[in-house]
Amino acid sequence: MGCQYFAPNSDGADSFTVAMPRLTVGRGTLHELGERTAALGVSRIALFTDPHLLDGPLVAIAKDSLKKAGISYTIFSDIRVEPDDESVSRGATFLKQAPCDAIVSVGGGSVIDTAKASLILHNQGGQPIDYLAPPIGAGKAITAPLLPHIACPTTSGTGSECTSISVLRINELNTKFVIAHPSLLPTLAIVDPQVCDSLPSNAIASTGFDLCCHALECYTARAYTQHAKIASPTARQYIQGANPFSDIAAREAIQIVGRYLERGVNDASDTQARDQLMWGATLAGIAFGNSGTHLPHAMSYGITHLMKDITTVGYPVKDPFVPHGISVIVTAPAIFRYTADGAPTRHLDSARLLLADDKGATPDDAGEVLASRLIHLMKATQMPNGIGGIGFNKAHTKALARSSIRQGRAIANAPRDSNLVDLENLYSNALSYW
Ligand SMILES: [Fe+2]
Repeated sequence: MGCQYFAPNSDGADSFTVAMPRLTVGRGTLHELGERTAALGVSRIALFTDPHLLDGPLVAIAKDSLKKAGISYTIFSDIRVEPDDESVSRGATFLKQAPCDAIVSVGGGSVIDTAKASLILHNQGGQPIDYLAPPIGAGKAITAPLLPHIACPTTSGTGSECTSISVLRINELNTKFVIAHPSLLPTLAIVDPQVCDSLPSNAIASTGFDLCCHALECYTARAYTQHAKIASPTARQYIQGANPFSDIAAREAIQIVGRYLERGVNDASDTQARDQLMWGATLAGIAFGNSGTHLPHAMSYGITHLMKDITTVGYPVKDPFVPHGISVIVTAPAIFRYTADGAPTRHLDSARLLLADDKGATPDDAGEVLASRLIHLMKATQMPNGIGGIGFNKAHTKALARSSIRQGRAIANAPRDSNLVDLENLYSNALSYW
């Protein structure tokens, strides 16, 4: 089916699956939360948010809307940025003690992902690690339906409101892993771009590069027909490779980044640009929720595992912390130079959608043209200069590679194979760009 990129392969998948929640997108739609929740037949909810949003205007809008619709709520906000298994266990305990018919999450990816995983533990007990695929976890099946979940993102990057995955730090393993299951898909997503009006430019930049990489990784991922045929119709993983549906969302999201990222970061009053970035984040979430990301996300996990003594300026976090979008973009130019060999036309297309200067470029130049455009955008939005810009040096590259090689599924979704040595070389090539 579709273009040559999806040419049939005798051992490969011959179908793909599409999943997304019911979406409402538009300025002011957070005010509709109560009515939309009540329409689900729900009268009492658990409201998940984080400590920084708890007393702010967005949670106030959510509470007011719920009250007007006659819905009672109890609030859980003991969620850390970059949530871990302890956040999730606390969330599940809260759900047991505060009976509710549904869960509402108001926050960034950390809040939405904590809500998703808490729903699993609330239903089936255990710890998050039990639900990770072997050999990391026990691969415990998620069997019972979860409570309805209404996700209201407050940043323009995560896309978690549109995906059936939860990304969590597993403390025992000291790194992040993904729990994936179709039942994690939120029931409703309310995407209100107004929530980004007051975000500082560094948050728009880091979340914007998260959305940028979601879209680029989906569009350049291995074709679904190159992934193995599944044993049973219900065994398909969300990482199923690029497909005609994820292409549509990814291409549009890449174009939005090319047109609006610099504007949205550098001019807080440019609501047109910021609204577009919010829409782009949703599109990129729809894309990666149906195809999976690859090396930039896989290699970001090594970075967040091994970051030490780094506190990113402008973020209210005291522990070592690199915002997720920064941890992804710092390796992306080096990675796309490498992966272009596996899907040159798609890398060149991506560069063009990002409005790269591609005069005279051929598919042989695709990696360089795409990397150069990303580096331009990084400079224009005050991003760190590669992994050297967030405190790593050549001596760290082996350990970074050893950590990230555990992300086998995402690595296998890249259009070009890579082993431990390749990952180490990629980190070396990502030390600095200018
Ligand atoms: Fe991401």
